[in-house]
Amino acid sequence: MTHVKGYILGHSADAARRLAIQDAHFADTSEKLLDDLSLRPGDRIVEFGCGPGSFSRRILGRLGSGGALVGVDASEELLNQAATMLSDARFQPTFADIATLGPWLDGADVVVGRAVLHHVPMAEFLVGRLRARLKPGTRVGFIEPDFRTPLAQLAFLQASGRPELAPLGVWASAINNLYLANRISPAVGATLTQSLRTAGYQNVCGDWSECRSDSLMIENMLMFYDEVRDRLVSLGVMAADQVAEQQRLLRALDPAKLPAAWGIFRVACET
Ligand SMILES: C[S@@+](CC[C@H](N)C(=O)[O-])C[C@H]1O[C@@H](n2cnc3c(N)ncnc32)[C@H](O)[C@@H]1O
Repeated sequence: MTHVKGYILGHSADAARRLAIQDAHFADTSEKLLDDLSLRPGDRIVEFGCGPGSFSRRILGRLGSGGALVGVDASEELLNQAATMLSDARFQPTFADIATLGPWLDGADVVVGRAVLHHVPMAEFLVGRLRARLKPGTRVGFIEPDFRTPLAQLAFLQASGRPELAPLGVWASAINNLYLANRISPAVGATLTQSLRTAGYQNVCGDWSECRSDSLMIENMLMFYDEVRDRLVSLGVMAADQVAEQQRLLRALDPAKLPAAWGIFRVACET
């Protein structure tokens, strides 16, 4: 198994399935970001942290035969899954740590990343150096999850007659604490628009939306627990029996009656 040390979630086929579920959650926002970036058929696009390729597939759908998509990821397993799933000569899988801003960035017309910056320690340093590395006029866009904002509404609902929603909050605490235990910020998206402006990017537009809350959201949460159970236990975030109990409580929820448990930040700009 080859991957750059540090990615705290899974690299397996199950992890890829969880990311495919996540793609369904991110569908609207992903398409809106690609609209914001006005992709052209011949663009050379560099995708940060492409993983198993579900966002890549959306990008390739907008490229012509002369376009290219350089998918950069620190997990060889996930890159291989992307190459197999996409089976597209325009897709160039590239095994690298995005923080190195390597030669794979040369000639980029567009740089995109979905749900990757929150895996990079102090990601603001990366986006600042990125601006200096790119040619003027390069379009840049990111989508980042928001595991915090919806919790206020969730807490209000729990405190005013819906105590059964507690496992959604426990799950949100678990994922936040997992990131914090690994010294990475689960909330980098919240300040990204301003960070990009501060770094001198132009035409910076940010947006926030709620994620869908349904049976897929619950499935995503159950899979997250399966994927990182051992890490949650070894880091002291949760005990194994607590994970099992939270999974039981999540399964017992009525998926038709759930508030959003997480949100999405989207930001587009140019150098
Ligand atoms: C949550 S997944 C998102 C995958 C994909 N962008 C999507 O939206 O389906 C994060 C991805 O970023 C990759 N990643 C994390 N840190 C990275 C780094 N420093 N360099 C390259 N890839 C990284 C992981 O291997 C993983 O594939």
